[in-house]
Amino acid sequence: MNRSRQHARGSATAAFLLALVLTLLVAATVFAFAAHIFPAPAPITDAAVLVDQQYARTLYVAGAVFVLAQLGLAFAVFRFRDRGAPARFSRGSVPLEIVWTSITLIVFVGLAVAGRKAWAMDRYTPPAPDAIQIEVTEAQFVFTFRYPGPDGKFGRLDPSLVDAPAGNPLGLDPNDPNGKDDVVSATLTVPVNRPIELLVRSQDVVHNFDVRELRLQQDAVPGMMIPIHFTATKMGSYAIVCTQLCGLGHNKMNAELRVVSESDYRAALEPTSGVAPPVPSK
Ligand code: CUA
Repeated sequence: MNRSRQHARGSATAAFLLALVLTLLVAATVFAFAAHIFPAPAPITDAAVLVDQQYARTLYVAGAVFVLAQLGLAFAVFRFRDRGAPARFSRGSVPLEIVWTSITLIVFVGLAVAGRKAWAMDRYTPPAPDAIQIEVTEAQFVFTFRYPGPDGKFGRLDPSLVDAPAGNPLGLDPNDPNGKDDVVSATLTVPVNRPIELLVRSQDVVHNFDVRELRLQQDAVPGMMIPIHFTATKMGSYAIVCTQLCGLGHNKMNAELRVVSESDYRAALEPTSGVAPPVPSK
C-alpha cells in the first residue's frame, strides 16, 4: 500500500474533547438560568405577571430544544468521527424534515396562542375609560411628564416655543387656557391601583420608555403620539430608562416612576408641592 496516499485517521481524543466541551457548555448554560444569577425585579402589574409566565413557558420549551440539540451535536461529533473510511453522501430524510418542521410550527403557534392574553392586555385592550392620561416627552437626554391638570385637558404645544433653559421644555403655548393648569414634572408620579395611560412622544430622535417592573417597553418616535397603559398594584420607586441608543448621553437618560397612594398623588400634583421643573439637558 502506498503510505503517502493512505487516508489519515482522525483522533478519537480530539472528537471526545470537543464533545466534552459542548456538554460542559450546555451544563454551564442550564446552570446560569436555573440558578437565577440575574433575577428580574418583581412585576408590579397583572399584565407583567402574564408576561413572566409567557417568558417562563418560552424559556422551558426553547431550553429543552437547546439541550437536546446540543447534546445531539456532542453525540454526533464523537459517534461519527473520522475513522479513516471515505465519507458517505446523504440526502437526508424527507419524512424527518416534515416531522420536525411540523413540530416547530406547532411549538411556535402554541407559544403565540399561549401568550396572546398578555400581549392583548398591553396592546389590544384599550385603557379603562377613567384612566389617568399623562404625556411622556423624550428628548436628548431627558424625560418630561405632563399632567393635564384639573380641567383634564392638555394645553396646546408649539414646537417653536420649546426652550428648556427658559423653563418651557415642551413648548407650552401660554395663550391656550387649557394649558394654564398643566403640570410639568421630571418625575412620573402615579396613584397605585389606578389605570394610567401614557402618551409617548419624542422631540428629536427615537428614544424608548422602559420600566422593568412593568414589563412594558415602547419606542418614542418623532412625529408620533403612541399610547400605552398599565395599572401598577405595588407602591414604590422604579427606574424609567431609555433603551434606544439615542446619542452620547443615552446611558444617563433615565427618570423615576413613583407609585404612591391616592393622597400622595394629589399632593404631588399641587402647584405648590414643589414638583421640580425638568432639568434641561446639558
Ligand atoms: Cu434616549 Cu437612549
